[in-house]
Amino acid sequence: MPTPSLQVRRGPVISDEIILGVVLFAPGCTYPAHAHKAITESYVCLSGAVSENHQGVYVPGSMIFNPPDHLHRITVGKQEPALLAYAWLGEKDVLHNQKMVFTRTRK
Ligand SMILES: [Fe+2]
Repeated sequence: MPTPSLQVRRGPVISDEIILGVVLFAPGCTYPAHAHKAITESYVCLSGAVSENHQGVYVPGSMIFNPPDHLHRITVGKQEPALLAYAWLGEKDVLHNQKMVFTRTRK
């Protein structure tokens, strides 16, 4: 049985098979190129507008599908923030130890 603090940190729904979340990007933001090793990622645009790899514009209701290890970069429209919901699917051990692979290192 997890400790109460661990339950709070993991959220109200605990699963070994999927990670769900939301991410809010500021207007004009660029989410650097990255990939998710052995994880399938889906985004649903909830508000604002984004582009992935400068291919098309995704508006509310649009879905973006990234197969495992697919390199992707997200840019946000300059007029308003963008709210995206995401789902990561993968093997249990991969989800527990997931690390995004960025094309450049942090300083
Ligand atoms: Fe991603």
